[in-house]
Amino acid sequence: MKALVLSGGTGTRLRPFSHSLAKQLIPVANKPVLFYGLEAIAATGVREVGVVVGERGEQIQRAVGDGAAFGLRVTYIPQDRPAGLAHCVLIAEDFLGDDDFIMYLGDNVFLSGIQELTDAYDAVRPDAMITVQKVADPAEYGVAVNDANGRVRRLVEKSRDSVSDLAVAGAYVFSPAVHRAVRAIPPSVRGELEITDALQWMVDRDLRVHSHRYDGYWKDTGKVADLLDCNRAVIGALEPCIAGTVDRRSSVSGPVVVGKEAEVVGSSLIGPLIVGAGSTVRGSTVGPHTTIGTGCLVEDSTVADSVLLDGARLSGVGHLRHSLVGRDAWLTSEPGAHRLVVGDDSRVVIGA
Ligand code: DAU
Repeated sequence: MKALVLSGGTGTRLRPFSHSLAKQLIPVANKPVLFYGLEAIAATGVREVGVVVGERGEQIQRAVGDGAAFGLRVTYIPQDRPAGLAHCVLIAEDFLGDDDFIMYLGDNVFLSGIQELTDAYDAVRPDAMITVQKVADPAEYGVAVNDANGRVRRLVEKSRDSVSDLAVAGAYVFSPAVHRAVRAIPPSVRGELEITDALQWMVDRDLRVHSHRYDGYWKDTGKVADLLDCNRAVIGALEPCIAGTVDRRSSVSGPVVVGKEAEVVGSSLIGPLIVGAGSTVRGSTVGPHTTIGTGCLVEDSTVADSVLLDGARLSGVGHLRHSLVGRDAWLTSEPGAHRLVVGDDSRVVIGA
């Protein structure tokens, strides 16, 4: 079995971050989202991985390299435009050959990995197996309609009609039968070759498409709220570790990680919380559910339920919550005024 990891696309819903960073490299608990997927694939024993990359391909290649750090052998497959998930399979045909393969969406996190999916596939040996999970907002996803035996009868991509509340999650296993499907389907109304259409093509020809229900924590991190939620879930299982220094005037409660050469002075740390390596927290209250990247500064501020990317600085910021702060972004305060430099496509909510 091989794996195909989709790491191209545009990341429009993660602007402005995706203007400068591939969305799959945005960190969750100070680790790029994509690495969770690569680790999950490595844990199944698969070694040969094709990574589809788009215009931010160089960043992905710099971060992942030849894959050896994950115990993988990575081949990069450039996609000239984000023409859809089934298009990724189409351009990867030479790499995939006649092997079964895992297709993994590079912005998805499955907290307990995907071994259960590959095990289920090996047990049933269908033509394709998808992963599904019940969600409250099915219109945001592709959805599947199953029969009583878990065999998929219908798939619909992001529809307002309440066809099913079983979302298709971003890990699939395909037999080589999928190659005929991706060649046969036409582009959708949004101009993409949809993997849901390829799967429906297989269902319509009586090929066996099964679904595996994943009950663990799964998140598509393609939106800010979901990224924050995912950060919260990952750091919820944190092993406490203080490698940097925390002075005597500071207090620590709950699971807290303070990275190497980080310094905490006169502050209150409420776990779960990560203070990244080389960061300084001074005169502040931080946490819970917060990740501070490396080389950040947080002074005279209060921050909870948030993620600060590397090099971000907060100074005198009264109360920051549910926020994502980009790399090297600065937030300071000034009495009686809001003075902002806000990047393209940003969203700012100012407390009254
Ligand atoms: O996360 C689950 C959902 O993922 C499914 O429920 C949907 O059925 C499926 O279509 C997909 O929807 P998204 O809108 O979330 O897909 P997105 O455009 O975010 O692409 C998923 C990953 O694939 C992401 O890492 C970007 C990459 N990608 C996407 C496209 C369209 C590519 O590498 N090339 C592409 O052409």
